[in-house]
Amino acid sequence: MDLGIAGKTALLAGASAGLGKSSALALAAEGARLFISARGEERLLATAQEIRDTTGAAVVPITADHGTAAGREQLQVLCPQPDILVITCSPPPFTQNYRELTADQWRASFETSAIGSIELMRHYTQGMVERRFGRIVNISTMSAKFPLALRMLSGGTRAAVANYSAGLAKVVAKDNVIINSILPGMFRTPGMEAGFAEAAAKNGTTSQEEVESFVRRFKIPARTYGDPDDLGALCAMLCSCYVRFVVGQSLVVDGGAGGGLF
Ligand SMILES: NC(=O)c1ccc[n+]([C@@H]2O[C@H](COP(=O)([O-])OP(=O)(O)OC[C@H]3O[C@@H](n4cnc5c(N)ncnc54)[C@H](OP(=O)(O)O)[C@@H]3O)[C@@H](O)[C@H]2O)c1
Repeated sequence: MDLGIAGKTALLAGASAGLGKSSALALAAEGARLFISARGEERLLATAQEIRDTTGAAVVPITADHGTAAGREQLQVLCPQPDILVITCSPPPFTQNYRELTADQWRASFETSAIGSIELMRHYTQGMVERRFGRIVNISTMSAKFPLALRMLSGGTRAAVANYSAGLAKVVAKDNVIINSILPGMFRTPGMEAGFAEAAAKNGTTSQEEVESFVRRFKIPARTYGDPDDLGALCAMLCSCYVRFVVGQSLVVDGGAGGGLF
């Protein structure tokens, strides 16, 4: 299926690894020209080269922290007119004890996972409206919809993004600027693999056994973790020409773990 986005310019903020990288690969395979960003330069350059080698796409890496005003300005200067914007970041830290959560931790989490996304959307929607085409996807977290004590910092901040995105989506949909969110559950990204390897070393098990134990404890109906490439393909679909009537939605992609009907 041709998604109708060949030749479009896509900016993926937070795409040297994990779900952002999978989305970049999927968009590149559809013929988009990419700008990808991350804070760490070495991994970013390696990912840019991997995407070029795999897909033949043009990829411009930008080392920038979109949790800061300076980082966002860098993106805006180097990629002034994207047609497609995909925003994500690393998950904020786990909350082991809500009583120890500080105002500074909330502020730090908000800066990256909420204000970073909101400010990028606020900036880039204007040009998209003028050009009468835009697709924006926030890759956030299922805990924005299904709260977990362990994920207070992650879910709380991204619930704000989902709310803002849905409000903004209603303003710009008439100009063919379409904004949606993907709320992932557990995926086998390198970050998650590292966590399981660490647990396996500690518990005298294998990574696979740790994954299976987690899947059982959290009762994931799909009985597995998600494949990042599946999420990347879904993200590309939400950036396609076919989603004009999908406005401001938060799509949970969690193997059925959350259990929400709507
Ligand atoms: N993987 C899962 O199982 C899972 C589960 C639930 C929710 N999620 C959600 O899915 C999203 C992506 O997670 P992931 O597992 O793909 O994360 P990840 O593997 O840590 O990848 C995050 C990417 O974003 C970059 N990044 C992080 N903070 C950034 C910043 N401030 N500015 C620019 N780039 C930044 C990272 O590179 P640098 O570190 O070099 O900046 C990396 O390229 C997150 O919202 C997370 O909460 C993931």
